[in-house]
Formats: sequence, structure tokens, C-alpha cells
Amino acid sequence: FGQPCSIQKNLYLQLQESMLSSASGFKNYRGILNWCVVMLVLSNARLFLENLLRYGILVDPIQVVSLFLKDPYSWPAACLVIVSNVFIFVALYTERKLAMGSISEKVGLLIYIFNLTVILCFPMVVVLKLPSITPVGGAFALGVYTILFLKLYSYKDVNRWCRERTQVKALSNTMTSDDRRTYMYYFVFAPTLCYELNFPRSESIRMGFLLRRLFEMVGNCTLFNSVKPVFILQEMDYSRMTERLLRLAVPNHLIWLIFFYCFFHSSMNFVAELLRFGDREFYRDWWNSETITYFWQNWNIPVHKWCLRHFYKPLLRRGAGKLLSQSAVFFASAFFHEYLVSVPLRMFRLWAFMGMMAQLPLAWFVARFLRGNYGNAAVWLSLIIGQPIAVLMYVHDYYVTHCQDDPTITEAL
Ligand SMILES: CC(C)(COP(=O)(O)OP(=O)(O)OC[C@H]1O[C@@H](n2cnc3c(N)ncnc32)[C@H](O)[C@@H]1OP(=O)(O)O)[C@@H](O)C(=O)NCCC(=O)NCCS
Repeated sequence: FGQPCSIQKNLYLQLQESMLSSASGFKNYRGILNWCVVMLVLSNARLFLENLLRYGILVDPIQVVSLFLKDPYSWPAACLVIVSNVFIFVALYTERKLAMGSISEKVGLLIYIFNLTVILCFPMVVVLKLPSITPVGGAFALGVYTILFLKLYSYKDVNRWCRERTQVKALSNTMTSDDRRTYMYYFVFAPTLCYELNFPRSESIRMGFLLRRLFEMVGNCTLFNSVKPVFILQEMDYSRMTERLLRLAVPNHLIWLIFFYCFFHSSMNFVAELLRFGDREFYRDWWNSETITYFWQNWNIPVHKWCLRHFYKPLLRRGAGKLLSQSAVFFASAFFHEYLVSVPLRMFRLWAFMGMMAQLPLAWFVARFLRGNYGNAAVWLSLIIGQPIAVLMYVHDYYVTHCQDDPTITEAL
């Protein structure tokens, strides 16, 4: 007791923080993550069994197909997707003419603007006018067209940048029309929105990796069987609405997390592995976001990279301020969110648009007033509560406009 340090032979005690206190700087929570996964699997297995015993198999294949098709002999959404090839060929043809110098840059730009405008308007008109398209089929077709719009926009920009640097002359000499077509279709199917003249490629297809991702996709789809949100929305007073919102929040959040894993990890990696596409950065650690800005920079990397390269940085380079450029990106994103929800539902309510635009003041508020774990909790809260607000609004409005008088739908809800 009280001896100088040099006299103590073994130093078992030292000045240090407990691991779970944030001052310790300890960050490896891998074991806790595994515990969460084990608990999630166990509790879902119980819920899955309970639901199976009580309701039977909820995922009825006929019901799933009827989400996409009203009539098994008419496939309007699939036809719409097949027609999208026309726009790919217009872009290819325009680029070939531009590379050969047969048309001027101005004419090329006009054709591109026309092509890109039609890509957005044509499916919208078809979905709004054709009663045989279901909301899910319409959302799928519009999703494909939106991705194609972003890809062809990138294709246009990159080829122009290369022409400006006179590289494309060399490329046009080495590439035949068949090569161009093959490369274009590789880009169309590749899990990226940003065009490159040389995509990074992995060496081979790893069968084990491919099968694991496939297994995850199938497994995650069966998980939906255990999540059954309840929407009974007649007589919506505010206290009932809040109760419904809180009841909806957890299953909605679970569905969103399963969707995130299934889409951004399993299926994108599956496609990338099949195509030997090398860049697998589809998401970063958004779950550690302490600000809303960090969340948007890290949760959907393909869209974020497209926004930076083709919209945000060009605006900054033209002298627009940072706030204006950020607002413009969020405005465009809000437009696409609304487009993808309102058109298939044939109902224009602007909830998705407002939800996306609300990210700007929310980002300012969180960055200004909250730090560290409080900021992280605020990001999680905005995800857990914010999304079901929009979902609830759409479900309520859809129910009121389409289903109130339909006893079969009322019963299903
Ligand atoms: C708007 C958005 C693009 C801003 O991104 P950000 O990363 O916060 O932007 P920053 O201001 O930090 O700058 C990003 C880049 O621009 C560069 N930059 C900043 N100011 C610049 C200027 N004046 N001139 C040129 N470049 C500039 C930075 O150097 C940085 O470059 P880097 O990526 O090579 O490091 C982003 O928030 C976003 O993607 N939002 C929309 C997301 C979305 O809608 N997703 C939909 C998912 S469903």
C-alpha cells in the first residue's frame, strides 16, 4: 500500500474505463451483433411457427402473383419493361453517331433530352391509363425505367466527357457495334448507376458465395411471412392514428431492414458475382450515422455516387452554393420518390415528396443540437417513426379512395 511503482513487480491494476462506457473508445461489438442475429432468428422462428399454426401459410403464391398481374394472360408491366429496350437502342445509336462525328454535339444532346424525357413520361402515362396494371406491377416497371433513366444519363455524360478528352475516338476505333451493344447491356444489368469505360472485374465467379446470397434472398422472403402489420383505418382520430402508427412502426422497420439486407447485400452481390462486377461497395456503415447527412452519404451508395458525379458536383462547378446544390439533389430525389409511389397508386398526395424534403431541416436540426449517441438515436428514430408516417398516410388515403366500399378488401385489411 502506497509503495512506489518501481517496487511493484506485476501491475494488475491501472487507470482505465469500463468497456461499455463510451470514454473507453472500445468499438468491437461483433459478438453483440451475433447475439442480436441469434435473438432475431429465435424470436422470428417462434413468431413464424405461431403464425403458421394460427393462420396457415400467409404467403399464398396465387396472391403474390395477383399483386403483379390482374389477368394471368395479360402481362402489361412485363411488356412495359421489354419496350424499355427501345430507349437503350436510341442511346446506343446516338452515341455511335456522335463518336463517328455524323451528328453534332447539339443534335446529340437534343436526342438525349428527348429520349430521357420519354423514358420518364411514357411508363407514367401507360401506368395511369392502363387499368390492367396493378400497383405492384406499376411500381416494378417504373423502378426499372427510373434506373434506366439514371444509367442512360450517366452514359451520356461519361461519353461526352471522354469525347471532350478525345479518348472516345480511340474507343470507337477498337469497338465494333456488337462490342458496344454487349458492353451497354453489361452496364444495364450491372449493379451500378455510373457508367465507366472499364468496369472493375473480379477474376472468377465463386459458386459458394453465389449460393449463399441466393439462400439469403429466399430465406429473407420467407421472413415476410412472420411480419403482418395491421391496417384498420376507419374512423381516424388522432389518438387512434398515433396508436396505429406506433403499432406499425416496428413491423415496418423490420420489413425495411430485411429489404435493405436482401436488396443491397444479397441480391446486388448476387448479380455482381454473376457478372464478375468488382466494385461491391453498395452501402457503408449507415447504422453508425450520428447525423442525417452521414446517413444519406452511406446508405444507398449507387444513388449517392450518381448524385455526386452527375448532379451535385456539376452544380458546384457551375458556381451554385453548397446549400442550393444539396437542396436541388434532395428535390430531385423527392420527385423520384413521389413518382415511384404516386403513379402506381394513381394517387397524388406528396407525402413521399415532403418526407424527402423534410430531410434538409432535419439534417440541420440533428447536426446543430445533437452529438454522438444522441445523434445516432435521432437517426434511428427518424427511420423507425418517419417511414411509417408516410406509409400510414398512403395506406389511409388509398383505403379511403379505393377500398372503403369494397367488403373483400376491408376484410383483408
Ligand atoms: C446531396 C449529397 C450528394 C451531398 O453529398 P455530401 O457527401 O454531403 O457532399 P459534400 O459537400 O460533403 O461533398 C461531396 C464531394 O463534393 C466535393 N466538393 C465539395 N465542394 C465542392 C466544390 N465547390 N467544387 C467541387 N467539388 C466539391 C467534395 O470534395 C466531395 O468530393 P469526394 O466525394 O471526392 O470526397 C448527398 O447528401 C446525397 O447523395 N443526397 C441524396 C441521397 C438520396 O436521395 N438518396 C436516395 C436514396 S433512396
